[in-house]
Amino acid sequence: PAPALDIFPSAPIAPVSPYIFSGFLEHLGRCIYGGILPATPTTFPHTPRRPCPADQFVETPRALLTPEGFRADVLAVLRDELQVPLVRWPGGNFVSSYNWKDGVGPREERKRRPELAWGGEESNLFGTDEFIAWCRVAKIEPYIVLNMGTGTLEDALHWIEYCNGTGDTYYANLRRKNTGRDEPHNVKYWGLGNEVWGEWQVGQQSASEYATKARQWAHAIRLVDPSVILVGCGETGVNQWDDVVLDALVDKIQMHSVEAVCSIHLYTGFGPRDRSETEKEYGRSVYGPDAAEYSIEVCKGLINKARFAKNVGKPIKIAFDEYGVWDETVGTPENGLEQFYTLADALAMASWLNVFVRQADIVDMACIAQSVNVISPLITSPTGLFRQTIYWPLFLFSRYMRGGTSVRVSLTSPAYAGETLPGWISSIKGAPKDLDASAVLHEDAATRARSLRVAVVNRSEATAYEVPIRVAFEKRVGEEVEVHELWHEDVRARNGWGSEEEVCVKARKGSWDGKWTFREHSFTLLVFKLQ
Ligand code: AHR
Repeated sequence: PAPALDIFPSAPIAPVSPYIFSGFLEHLGRCIYGGILPATPTTFPHTPRRPCPADQFVETPRALLTPEGFRADVLAVLRDELQVPLVRWPGGNFVSSYNWKDGVGPREERKRRPELAWGGEESNLFGTDEFIAWCRVAKIEPYIVLNMGTGTLEDALHWIEYCNGTGDTYYANLRRKNTGRDEPHNVKYWGLGNEVWGEWQVGQQSASEYATKARQWAHAIRLVDPSVILVGCGETGVNQWDDVVLDALVDKIQMHSVEAVCSIHLYTGFGPRDRSETEKEYGRSVYGPDAAEYSIEVCKGLINKARFAKNVGKPIKIAFDEYGVWDETVGTPENGLEQFYTLADALAMASWLNVFVRQADIVDMACIAQSVNVISPLITSPTGLFRQTIYWPLFLFSRYMRGGTSVRVSLTSPAYAGETLPGWISSIKGAPKDLDASAVLHEDAATRARSLRVAVVNRSEATAYEVPIRVAFEKRVGEEVEVHELWHEDVRARNGWGSEEEVCVKARKGSWDGKWTFREHSFTLLVFKLQ
């Protein structure tokens, strides 16, 4: 079919939650040590699989750190450029054998432990108080995941008392002693375990075992702090796990997490493979986020089924608390999951964000996995950083699609004929479209000026499309349009040291005559003024 895009500003879906721009920090590779803190000879190498001889170790100069000792460059990008509102910590798989008590108190007395999720050793030099201190400087809301692997309910209750207790109790007083301040950390978001369903997890459980345990934990946690928001551990949103867990927990939790980094396997990347394999990888990566939309739609149905059965009036939202672009054959535990992204990967990232905007009525949180170095938009060296290709869609969405209301779009587009993943989703939903779009209606709080922000990914590797754009029931759409485009002639182009801006967004003013040409393998964000 000939492409066409209809936008309906008069048909709101829901306000876009600012929390869809959230992040994730795990004690893995160079995320914490080398990303948030400067690496030191005792924290780096983090894993023996990634040795760094002592004579090659480079220290980060003090001038590049904040007064608290955090990396100032990473903090500035996350706080000021991407405006990350919330960060999930400490894992991920790491949390399932993490003892929070090892990570508080005098740093010289912290216990160094074997790290079971990724191998190596954990110095515990970054613990709860450092995480909260970093969040405060970064103006970021903390979201802590509880250890439901080796951890006990008692440990969890102590952790919450330590963070949020205001009384004259042991752990609240321990926090006061360790931080030298009276005020609590006030951690509102708590996750009930990470990927407890996975066989790689320390303490894997069946759905019904987890459901029973999580209900008990939720009940007890509320006795310590009734104000917390609990995030139940989901699988992909479409699995039997999700069904069982939602049925059991719907009256005990506020959010159901869906984790898609591993579980949906949205693989990406171009290795030294033959042509047909390359084509397959392109499809899997760039069209892959369609699978996430399917999982959200099904999960929404499961949530409402569970609410209906237990007569739960309050809404339960989805926390897509791990998502991203990850080729497990490229970002491996041996290299600390460091992956260097192409323009194609950035198109996948833009499609991910389109999904979250279109699903604004149910997705309240999305955390990119992860925020620095580990399958991340940012890569650091001891003295600097560069922004990967996938940084740019995040930057544009965070800047232009935040603070508005997601509105309905109707898109006619040629379909993609190649292989995408997982195949069974295509057989239910039909072949994915080359064009992918979302739109937000924005009203400036001070001037009341209205604008329409339209994000379009042309996922076709080789075809540019001229697309009529119709804005329904809006007679006065300005002719001048603000254009932000991410494009490079080579869809495999990447950024790197010395070529930090090989792939980056170009902004310009354009004039709109009712249609727009979207270049092959491009991401474009258009801002229209409405009068
Ligand atoms: O983000 C990397 C890993 O992916 C996380 O530790 C885990 O939760 C998921 O499997």
